[in-house]
Amino acid sequence: MNYIGKSVFRLDAQDKVTGKALFLDDLKFPGMLFAKCVIAKIPHGEILKIKLDKAEKIAGLKLILDSSFNFKFENEAGLILSDQPLIAFKKARYYGDCVALVAASVQEAALLAASLIKVSYKALPGYFSVKDALKKEALFIHPEGNLLTHLKLRKGNIEEGFKNSDYIIEALYQTPHQEHLYLETQGVIAVPHYDGRITIYGSLQCPYYVQKSVCKVLKKGLNQVEVIQTVTGGGFGGKEDFPSEHCARAALLAEITRQPVKLVFDRREDFIITGKRHPMEMHYKYGVRKDGIIQAAQIKIYADCGAYATLSPIVLYRANVHACGPYVIPNISVDTFGVYTNNSPCGAMRGFGQPQTAFASEGILDEIAQKLGIDPIELRLKNALRINRETATDQVLKESVGLAETIKSARISSNWDKKIKQYSKNKGSKRRGIGAACIYYGISLGSKGWHLDKSGAHLQIWQDGTASIALGGADMGQGAFTVIAQIAASALNLPLEYIKILEVNTSFVPDSGPTVASRTTTMSGKAVFNGALILKERLLNLASIILKVSPSKIKLKGMGYYFKRNKIHYKDLVKEAYLRNINLSAFGWYSAPPLKWDNEISQGEAYFVYAFATQIAEVEIDLALGIVKVLKVTASHDLGKAINPNLIEGQIEGGVAQALGYTLYENLVFKKGIIQNPNLSTYVIPLSLDVPYVKSILVEDAYSEGPFGAKGVGEPALIPTAPAIVNAINNALGVRFRKIPILPEDIFFKKF
Ligand code: MTE
Ligand code: MOS
Repeated sequence: MNYIGKSVFRLDAQDKVTGKALFLDDLKFPGMLFAKCVIAKIPHGEILKIKLDKAEKIAGLKLILDSSFNFKFENEAGLILSDQPLIAFKKARYYGDCVALVAASVQEAALLAASLIKVSYKALPGYFSVKDALKKEALFIHPEGNLLTHLKLRKGNIEEGFKNSDYIIEALYQTPHQEHLYLETQGVIAVPHYDGRITIYGSLQCPYYVQKSVCKVLKKGLNQVEVIQTVTGGGFGGKEDFPSEHCARAALLAEITRQPVKLVFDRREDFIITGKRHPMEMHYKYGVRKDGIIQAAQIKIYADCGAYATLSPIVLYRANVHACGPYVIPNISVDTFGVYTNNSPCGAMRGFGQPQTAFASEGILDEIAQKLGIDPIELRLKNALRINRETATDQVLKESVGLAETIKSARISSNWDKKIKQYSKNKGSKRRGIGAACIYYGISLGSKGWHLDKSGAHLQIWQDGTASIALGGADMGQGAFTVIAQIAASALNLPLEYIKILEVNTSFVPDSGPTVASRTTTMSGKAVFNGALILKERLLNLASIILKVSPSKIKLKGMGYYFKRNKIHYKDLVKEAYLRNINLSAFGWYSAPPLKWDNEISQGEAYFVYAFATQIAEVEIDLALGIVKVLKVTASHDLGKAINPNLIEGQIEGGVAQALGYTLYENLVFKKGIIQNPNLSTYVIPLSLDVPYVKSILVEDAYSEGPFGAKGVGEPALIPTAPAIVNAINNALGVRFRKIPILPEDIFFKKF
């Protein structure tokens, strides 16, 4: 019954591939209305007038809400900053801001009515770059100004560090917007009940965020709002913050009409209205001794947060803390600026600010290696974080630091030493290159989110011995439920088929924080593990009474509880427990260990544990076509313990594919704040044939607090890929790109 380390099939696989699984848009409720958002078709403007007369004539129309509607509800769902009206009030701040909501009895009527609503604006100047938004003469997009946040990290003495350096290397790196492109677009159904309660069904990652937002807007008690996560076709962070607004809008319509309301985006709306990955401009200046030991890092990061804050402060906390990568650097100064613009709001996306900074920090490491004539892998090994060494925030790492192991294993497996020499002699029109990148990633929410960092699980064994488990952590496609079931079965000593993980429902499990930051295996996994221990102890105690021997002498074999020749089968034990009125339900809980943190200078324990990774990419570049083909990615990840190796390989392959798009294909074109390519025919993502062979190496440097030693891998999988590819391109061509995406024309028009 030990399922740890076993690649069992995903429990949801069959239902999903056969089409049996019901996604949000498959659900129907009696009397259900269809909603539509009317969006601002201007990036920045004062709303002068909204004309509803034509729309109001549409048959089937039920309700239109605009900001003139004098409702008794809160027009604000935000959890961190209250800067984003649900329905734009007086002002629109991006092309996609919701200016009115429509509900109708059929979808076509909602679409038609929405299209007939005419909004007139007084156009305001738009600010589409950090530089423009920070100009002195720029209008304020929000009353407090356009600088949303400024985070600082100060370690050691930066001047001293540069003085001790033989070389100073400086560069500017730039990364673009990225769209999440979950397969299933945003969707919600809000169902009001006769007693004042409301149930929200949604494709979402963070049911407890949604619960709080809906309560805030409807001014209800938390016990009046129930959030049920429906089968979710991908989130990638895009269903972390946005569903708070989305669900609150549907809830508002449902509360007023007293009818169920469905609000589902088509792909185009999803592109235009929802959040993106933050574009960043990153100025990096490193001081290094001639032996390759880094002495100083001075960094300035500018992030385009778009029109609203959403999760920017948290995303930038992570960017700021991890800006230098997984190295020991004694003197560091980082300034991270988050700036409002009139572009789409930016928020959470897989990696949470780190794919950007890793692109810069791993780029500059290669530039240093080149300048010093040191092998890039050797340079990384020289500076790598190890046990008992301190991170950029001066946190001494006491355990589970598998970085060096990931570097070494990736180096050997990719045949690095031979290839790096061979490829640099490249000539001709097809050239090959190899490049490496290392990262670390603080698992879970860290100091800034510590108050949310807990997880609960309710476990129940029924009379027949089967068990139901209700969790606070969601599965949005990453396979969390399968991993959790494996942890539960192993801890309870049960066959996997005995375990049923229920859909996430906020009514049954206390606030377990968000399903983000690659925390589910560690946090929900540990909560389930802790709950299972309680049940196991009760069963053992009963067995000890029946077998007349102390619990410690009982041996478990298969489903039998044994003492010498005496035995009781698990099923009989459970029956007996029920006959004796023994409680076979338990609540498991886990909360993050306490962390010391100085927010002024970002020093202290940023996260309770870190995942580490090294990826090595090999590319072949066709100079005649400008096309970069990634041939292979060797991905070595320290994840503590691989609960399900196949699922982890799936995460790594998916992460690499998503980063491949980020590096070489995806180009979201904004023209004065308006997305020019909000569809899948012009926003190009890698197809299956573009995705390289990914050789995954799983390094298991156990984390003693994690369930069976596990950390996370969901986001780390994506973070090192872009810099590894760009470093490989540099190796092939001797040309350094400091900006992604690198499109064929960028290569084609370069002179070699
Ligand atoms: N994998 C799939 N298939 N679908 C997803 O939406 N989200 C990613 C990653 N992998 C995602 C995914 C993101 S953003 C996070 S934070 C982690 O999964 C969350 O899952 P975990 O906590 O189980 O690692
Ligand atoms: Mo992931 S961006 O933390 O949902």
